[in-house]
Amino acid sequence: MAEEAVLRYLEKNEEISDSGKFAEDRGLSHDDIVNIIKSLNGFRLVDAQDIKKERWVLTDEGKKYAEAGSPEVQLFLAIPAEEGIAREDLQKKLESSIFKIGSQQAIKNKWIEMGKSQVSRKVQQVEDKIKILLLQIQNGEAVSSEDIDALKRRKLITQQIWKGYSVRKGPKYAPKRKKAATDLTRENIQRGDWKELEFKEYNFSAKGQPLEGGHLHPLLKVRRQVQMIFLQMGFEEMPTNNFVESSFWNFDALFQPQQHPARDSHDTFFLKEPSTTKTLPEDYVDRVKEVHENGGYGSRGYGYEWKREEANKNLLRTHTTAVSSRMLYLLAQKPFAPKKYYSIDRVFRNEAVDRTHLAEFHQIEGVMCDRGLALSDLIGVLHEFFSRLGMSKLRFKPAYNPYTEPSMEIFSYHEGFKKWVEVGNSGMFRPEMLQPMGLPEDVQVIAWGLSLERPTMILYGIDNIRDLFGHKVDLGLIKRNPVCRLGLQYMDSA
Ligand code: PHE
Repeated sequence: MAEEAVLRYLEKNEEISDSGKFAEDRGLSHDDIVNIIKSLNGFRLVDAQDIKKERWVLTDEGKKYAEAGSPEVQLFLAIPAEEGIAREDLQKKLESSIFKIGSQQAIKNKWIEMGKSQVSRKVQQVEDKIKILLLQIQNGEAVSSEDIDALKRRKLITQQIWKGYSVRKGPKYAPKRKKAATDLTRENIQRGDWKELEFKEYNFSAKGQPLEGGHLHPLLKVRRQVQMIFLQMGFEEMPTNNFVESSFWNFDALFQPQQHPARDSHDTFFLKEPSTTKTLPEDYVDRVKEVHENGGYGSRGYGYEWKREEANKNLLRTHTTAVSSRMLYLLAQKPFAPKKYYSIDRVFRNEAVDRTHLAEFHQIEGVMCDRGLALSDLIGVLHEFFSRLGMSKLRFKPAYNPYTEPSMEIFSYHEGFKKWVEVGNSGMFRPEMLQPMGLPEDVQVIAWGLSLERPTMILYGIDNIRDLFGHKVDLGLIKRNPVCRLGLQYMDSA
């Protein structure tokens, strides 16, 4: 209503010179008009200029007198013209404030005579100038400054600052405001009303939706920390970028006999396509065949007929020691130099899945080669490595691996679980593995391996591996999991 009135008026008229008068003439509330003007001004449909007016308004007392007459006139009229009235009676006839103020003013005006007991008129007639002035002010009429002063002194009027606007057409003036569209919809196109629509301008400095950054899986966080430990200890990373491996590098090169149960399809995933490897280093293959069948390097071998077809079979690597065997073979092809290698990557085993086992997991592997290494070096480096992981109490138990002798399972005392838990496997690679590769006789290789999942589950308090890895994992776990900090107190309190 108010908006229409303003815009329509400006269509035919130059200016609304006074919003107050404009509102009054149309019987609209000035507050409503002011709000509309502010909004139209904001959208530049109109150009509004402030106007401030100081004006006099009646106080509550002033309003009373404008209606009922001034106290002095009320008092005058209450005095009978001829005989006057007893002061007491007059007092009873009037409100006490009217009597008090009225008598003061009437005496000052010399309208009445007030004795000790009797009150009488001194003039025939009086004019209620105060009432007339108050009504004039109420109607916004001009009043002389002496009169204003007199009324002000009697606190019948107060000054009010009135704010309004004068309004002209703005640069974007239109007789009717269009609501700016924020979206172009399918319906707009169908109806064709997009032609008339005014679109809201893009606000390129508005803040966008906060971006959800990438989140590291707990396994990746722990992997990073383990990687840092290896790097700090001077290890180099081995290339692990082949999940598919031949049986040769995964088993045969590691002096693992071809009838070993691990090489069964119940334990290992063999590939159907391509089912066999294309190339192997032939002279090395011959030496591996020889050591399996007849031994050598002080060994009797296994005494069975080694089959090339078995070695050619492709599989998903069952351990990262397959990577180590390739690396050691490569190392043996050059003049020997001591090396420290590590890897952390995925391996696959055809195992029944349960709370602690998956068909795929990650292995951490460390390998050190040098002349004259002994079991004490292995024990020493394991203490160093595991204490950096936060496991400083270690115990070793003799174990068996086809490729290491001696072999040791590694146990760590878990302060939280209050028991010894197995944390890895280790050993010194056998001469039957190293010599056919071509490594010098006095070179020893010590190595160890552990899963990445085990310490991650302990660190993050996860007891079912399926909550950590695989399709059932809650993405919230990945978004919310804390940073990984390896070290004594964290492992122990987990
Ligand atoms: N390959 C072994 C495993 O899969 C771990 C290991 C690595 C053992 C190196 C000894 C030496 O459990």
